[in-house]
Amino acid sequence: MNIALIGCGYWGKNYLRVLDELAETNLVEVVDQNPAVLAQVKNKYPLIQTSTDYTATLAKSNIDAVVVATTASTHLPIAEEAIRNGKHLLVEKPLTIDPADCLRLTERAEKAGVLLMVGHTFLYNDSVRKMKDILKEDASGEIYYLTARRNHLGTIREDVSALWDLAAHDIAIFTYLLDQEPLSLSAVGGCYLREGREDVCFMTLNYPGGVMGHIQVSWVDANKVREVIAITGKRRVLFNDLDSLESIRVFEKGISFDEGAESFGEFQYLLRDGNIFSPKVERKEPLKNQCLHFVHCIEDGSRPVSDGRNGTMVVRVLRAASESMRQHGKEVFIEKSA
Ligand SMILES: NC(=O)c1ccc[n+]([C@@H]2O[C@H](COP(=O)([O-])OP(=O)(O)OC[C@H]3O[C@@H](n4cnc5c(N)ncnc54)[C@H](O)[C@@H]3O)[C@@H](O)[C@H]2O)c1
Repeated sequence: MNIALIGCGYWGKNYLRVLDELAETNLVEVVDQNPAVLAQVKNKYPLIQTSTDYTATLAKSNIDAVVVATTASTHLPIAEEAIRNGKHLLVEKPLTIDPADCLRLTERAEKAGVLLMVGHTFLYNDSVRKMKDILKEDASGEIYYLTARRNHLGTIREDVSALWDLAAHDIAIFTYLLDQEPLSLSAVGGCYLREGREDVCFMTLNYPGGVMGHIQVSWVDANKVREVIAITGKRRVLFNDLDSLESIRVFEKGISFDEGAESFGEFQYLLRDGNIFSPKVERKEPLKNQCLHFVHCIEDGSRPVSDGRNGTMVVRVLRAASESMRQHGKEVFIEKSA
């Protein structure tokens, strides 16, 4: 599969390495508007073509597919041009910064018969997949709520807020774990570094069946945290992305209703003590899993886990959260995916 990479900044460099390493992909061209970036690419990978003009690259007939890893606000015109030229495309998250544009892109790709996938990397993370398997076990019971914290110093972006940059991951993870989209949310945020762009956001989401979600993201917290926790009727399941040895921990402790209690006056709840364990997770690089999934979906025509509709749903939730923040935490209802 001949692939072009458009955007080779902080994250694009990971694609550069992965697409070069994988046997299934042939990275033929790298596009970036910054010539200094292209000089670095040429120095390390002399056989890869470079260009500052994505329109010229997308017009080439030897390119089958394209990865778009430019800044979020530029995804729309680049993706539109890729679809016009009949290229399969993997666009970094967020797909675009407007849900209507996301849906339009998705429909155009479907009509043109090209595959559109969004880079929601955590859906290709083996620990997140393991967490979903554990939550599906009878021994987990029903999910009460999910919480996520994604805090650190930066990386501060010029075109989107911390909400759009970081919470996109957790919204995608929650929907994947629950197989449900949120019905409504409320969010508050703070602009501590500069006016008009929140660097901190606290969001509460409501899912069908009374399941709650809470997401905390920050660019101004010196303690790096990357965790998702599920609290169920029988377990607490923790995914800690910073712990390579024990990325998943399961606590079989909880509170149960004491069915043996004879009268209402008796103590009716029991603290349940149990094991704490870390299941083995075969962790491969999520970005490699994601790129392989992209190639396999193109080859066999199957639908990607993070397809255009999934990417649109994430942007719809982000837009609702921005609206709620503007209204100081007012509950905003979210349109359901078609
Ligand atoms: N999936 C993940 O875990 C993850 C992690 C980090 C970033 N990202 C996403 O990746 C994307 C890029 O983020 P980044 O941190 O690499 O940003 P960055 O600013 O470091 O890099 C963006 C690159 O795109 C280039 N560029 C911008 N507009 C262009 C255009 N019109 N034509 C050609 N090149 C252009 C810039 O010169 C720059 O080199 C964003 O959408 C971000 O949300 C995803």
